[in-house]
Amino acid sequence: MRVPPLLDARKEGQSLSLQVQTGDTEFFPGRASQTLGYNGSYLGPTLRVNRGDEVEIAVTNTLKEDTTVHWHGLLIPAELDGSPHELILPGATWRPRLPIRQPAGTLFYHSHAHGRTGAQVYSGLAGLFLVTDDEERALGLPSEYGVDDLPLVLQDRQFEDGRLVLPEGMMTNMLGRRGNTTLVNGTPNAIARIPGRLVRLRLVNGSNARIFDLSFADQRSFHWIASEGGLLEEPIEVRSLTLAPGERVEVLVDFSNGRPVALQTAPDTNLPMMGPLARVRDFGAEIFGAGHEVVLRFEPIASDRGTAVVPVRLIARQRVNASQAKRRRRFVLTMGMGGMMGGRIGSGGTMAINGRPFDMDRIDERVVLGDTEIWEVSGEMMFHPMHIHGVQFEVLSRNGGKPMTRDAGARDTVLVREPVELLVRFTQPAVKAPFMYHCHILEHEDNGMMGQFVTT
Ligand code: C2O
Ligand code: CU
Ligand code: CU
Repeated sequence: MRVPPLLDARKEGQSLSLQVQTGDTEFFPGRASQTLGYNGSYLGPTLRVNRGDEVEIAVTNTLKEDTTVHWHGLLIPAELDGSPHELILPGATWRPRLPIRQPAGTLFYHSHAHGRTGAQVYSGLAGLFLVTDDEERALGLPSEYGVDDLPLVLQDRQFEDGRLVLPEGMMTNMLGRRGNTTLVNGTPNAIARIPGRLVRLRLVNGSNARIFDLSFADQRSFHWIASEGGLLEEPIEVRSLTLAPGERVEVLVDFSNGRPVALQTAPDTNLPMMGPLARVRDFGAEIFGAGHEVVLRFEPIASDRGTAVVPVRLIARQRVNASQAKRRRRFVLTMGMGGMMGGRIGSGGTMAINGRPFDMDRIDERVVLGDTEIWEVSGEMMFHPMHIHGVQFEVLSRNGGKPMTRDAGARDTVLVREPVELLVRFTQPAVKAPFMYHCHILEHEDNGMMGQFVTT
């Protein structure tokens, strides 16, 4: 398995650079595919920054088309966040100075050029962005990058004759680009050689549309320790987890028995044909059984009973009280025109939120900076990973009841179909540019399932 190179901001004098470039990638030997990458031919380096620091990142676009780089999960003012409004034209360099003011966590960065996000991310424009801080370091979690702290970008991609192809057409618009091959950090049939001890995995779903239902082939349990917003208050033991596009988790897995084991996924089920009663699957739900596909094989190098143990407690988190919410807003992710006609996929429909397709020149919501609000979000026809820029939120309820295990922690992305209530704190200014909220199925986003808000 490839491990993306690490660029540590402190070692680089708080100044990093990314070059957006085209390249040829041999996912399979002797079969070159045209791809995009940052400082390389596919995907980008892992950027690591420290809480409290300020980091300048120079992004140079050497492509013949516009791009942007969005820092997904970073709490920063809107004009720095790399939305469709911060276009980097061909030949230009964008130099945001990013103040890092949030707890340790696994974030990522990717293209957000409106209408082209799906194609550019599919071709390789994504990478990991890690925030670290003293509290996280004090926990003694496995943190040797690429050794016992593994970045794992999961992506499904379509290959024909060993070459990457870009799916297009009506079905693709409707379902999102999917593929017949799972890549981990750009590697098909990946094998990770890890020490035979407790290992931290940072799982990032970098697919355009695919939801992964992950478990180990031997059904071992493991500990979930971090959601998108950073560490949980305490580890949660699970045997499976579900990861939608844009979602990230950190887990601790014990490999001290020295035995090889495969991480596998259940079949892809996010299809409109599932029927109206389909519900989001929780972490720990039974997904063992037929039809599994191997995502990644782990091969422990000897059994070494290291000192790392799963901590009983992780971090104390300040909770916002729901009674402080000033307003409630409702968002329905809509697929328009019914989408299905006579059991067949129809026109593809219009992707929208509350029936309104995205318009760069329209501000959909105006929020008072510093306020807390309740956003109620649901989705039509399929599961939709709803993502909100510039905030972290908590899930207050799901389908009128208690949140699921999968909803735990501070988040920036949440899988919906049945309604969820989110308690959202707006701490970042959006004056010079708006923030986005959208479905993270990138083809839904590109086709209009996105809105924008300002905070003033
Ligand atoms: Cu990861 Cu607006 O996106
Ligand atoms: Cu984002
Ligand atoms: Cu969607």
